[in-house]
Amino acid sequence: MIEDLMSKITSLAKRRGFIFPGSEIYGGIAGFYDYGPLGVELKNNIKKLWWQEMVYKHDEIVGLDSAIITHPKVWEASGHVTAFTDPLIECRSCHKRFRADNLENISDKQKSKMLSKQSLTDKNKEYIKNADKVCPDCGYAINTHVDTPKQFNLLMKTYLGTVEGEKDATYLRGETCQGIYLNYKNVLDSMWKKIPFGIAQIGKAFRNEITPGNFTFRTREFEQMEMQWFIKADLKESEKWFTYWKEERMKWYLSLGFKKENLRFRDHEPEERAHYAKAATDIEYNSPFSWKEFEGIHNRSDWDLSRHSKFSGVDLLYTNNETKDKYIPWIIETSAGADRMTLFALLDAYHEEPENKRVVLKFHPKLAPVKVAVFPLMANKQEIVDKAKSIFDNLKLDFHTMFDDIGNVGKRYRRQDEIGTPWCVTVDYQSLEDDTVTVRDRDNMQQERIKISELPQYFTEKLK
Ligand code: GAP
Repeated sequence: MIEDLMSKITSLAKRRGFIFPGSEIYGGIAGFYDYGPLGVELKNNIKKLWWQEMVYKHDEIVGLDSAIITHPKVWEASGHVTAFTDPLIECRSCHKRFRADNLENISDKQKSKMLSKQSLTDKNKEYIKNADKVCPDCGYAINTHVDTPKQFNLLMKTYLGTVEGEKDATYLRGETCQGIYLNYKNVLDSMWKKIPFGIAQIGKAFRNEITPGNFTFRTREFEQMEMQWFIKADLKESEKWFTYWKEERMKWYLSLGFKKENLRFRDHEPEERAHYAKAATDIEYNSPFSWKEFEGIHNRSDWDLSRHSKFSGVDLLYTNNETKDKYIPWIIETSAGADRMTLFALLDAYHEEPENKRVVLKFHPKLAPVKVAVFPLMANKQEIVDKAKSIFDNLKLDFHTMFDDIGNVGKRYRRQDEIGTPWCVTVDYQSLEDDTVTVRDRDNMQQERIKISELPQYFTEKLK
């Protein structure tokens, strides 16, 4: 059932132009995906709405677009060169490699099935008897007491210049926020900001994930939407803002129509926190492959700016102009993934309605990749087609609009339902007489008659 939903989403995503496997004609490449004509609209809407929410809504937050490649020392200072690791384990049977912390426990039944095989050596028997995990690929036993996991660094290395050598090695960024820390002083000086203030950025990040998977949930190239909130160096102050941002972020997902029962907070135990975090909470989504991290909210204290100050030798102290206090600001971070949000938006919106013989993506209209579809009732009646075309031309720059004259209107509705278009406009014979059209609502399938001249206002109101 679970796999069923994921395979339905994966297949719909490909069939209807949302998401394609990367480098498909060469047999694919694990952990990379391409966004098709509808996927890029959906993801762009997500990024635009995040920017509006974080940068335009909050007067104290400004935007940034920093380079993907930085001086390699950045990643030493940030701690990623030494601590950005996942435990890696190799299956003895199929020799595939997995993240040791994501493996399922082995059951007694699985063990006894394996032990019943005649051909096992005593050593193998011992290994299986004491195994604690199971290989997700071939189902063989994994014994993490014997095959202890090795730490594997997730940073993606790259080389600069014409001669490849360690001197010119650097990394594709593993998280976008480091570019924010590098520019904290520039922003402070150029924008006359006072603490508390924030810097927001959307951009690509790269991680050499050991086991990319669950479609676009865990990929090796992805986009992050991160905001770093600079505050007074004070524990109480940091706790106040941590709570504030947790709540703000949850409210945003709910405002975009995500089902409340599919979202929850999960606080990290101290031992699972990233090396930079004093406190960490995930907003999790109830995905078909269990509750999974959607967004991370972290109290990074003065870890990053202190380290960059130490490694670069540059003074990154903040001066309070009134009290003349000097300190390294603490940081509260909100870090969301645009690709994960695209996937979770597809999952959350997916509905099958056998009674209406349709699959429908019930996206919040602001997320919907196409807002309006315009149909001429008859594709061979020139006057109707011309009127439909002129409505399409009039709407398309303000609302992403699609023109469809293929097949009967019922089929066209089903096609638009499957990609989540909230409104379909049909031009019919009556339109030629009184300049009205029908507007059909995706969710309740009701139609109303609207004056053509009032359509822009009608959709603007609906999208507010
Ligand atoms: N700057 C903090 C940071 O990067 P993270 O928890 O490692 O924290 C933040 O990542 C968010 O980035 C995640 O909640 C997720 O939405 C997204 N993300 C992280 N790794 C990802 C991957 N391999 N594929 C897709 N999205 C990922």
